[in-house]
Amino acid sequence: MTYQVIIPAAGQGKRMGIGRNKLFLMLEEIPVLIHTLRVFEQDVECSGIILSIHQNDQDSFVDLLKEYRIHKVTNLVEGGKERQDSVYNGLKEVQSEGIVLVHDAARPFVKVETIHELVKAAESSGAAIAAVPVKDTIKRAENHLVSETIERSSLWAVQTPQAFRVSVLREAHEYAIKNQINGTDDASLVERLSHNVVIIEGDYDNIKLTTPEDVYFAEAILNKRKHSD
Ligand code: CTP
Ligand code: MG
Repeated sequence: MTYQVIIPAAGQGKRMGIGRNKLFLMLEEIPVLIHTLRVFEQDVECSGIILSIHQNDQDSFVDLLKEYRIHKVTNLVEGGKERQDSVYNGLKEVQSEGIVLVHDAARPFVKVETIHELVKAAESSGAAIAAVPVKDTIKRAENHLVSETIERSSLWAVQTPQAFRVSVLREAHEYAIKNQINGTDDASLVERLSHNVVIIEGDYDNIKLTTPEDVYFAEAILNKRKHSD
């Protein structure tokens, strides 16, 4: 089953602190953005990529797409103030029904097997997300005073990709706009419709590059992959 993917790439990477979008960071001499796009470029099931970008990055991104021969980007759309706005601007360009994925440009290590499992699950359930079991003990606290330890066995650390029937994601975003709901992921908007969201267990390598330490992890993951080929 084919799918389209919306890739929000319009952030500023403030927590990474390199003074420009972290997606330009080089990992083994290839920009993070390209690592991510290549996964979809090489997946035969992916019919098109909609990329949400910041105006300041437009020229550089277009150059990178050319340089690295990324051909599947069908639309470059302007990102918004929040990630949610950037996804919505991409969603407006999705013409066909079927399955749409949302995947953060800052997660370059997603596996194609996970993508296909998500697509299959979203076809039958309407919404499916990649996640991994939480490893740490999580406590709730106010003013550094613990109020509760949350039962870990029910906790999942949620990642992208997240896969949806187009109609479900559209309804969720439109409902969010109407009711001024801000979610840190797309599934949380779907949850507001009381629609089921299925978890597909992904893997711990599918990190999001967020802070400078993540670059060390990213290099280690690439190194591991090189030696397991
Ligand atoms: N993103 C986006 N539009 C925004 C904010 C974020 O498209 N207004 C994208 C980012 O480019 C990234 C993904 O959403 O691929 C996840 O966001 P995050 O990791 O928070 O990246 P940034 O917002 O760039 O980083 P920071 O929050 O540290 O500034
Ligand atoms: Mg952000």
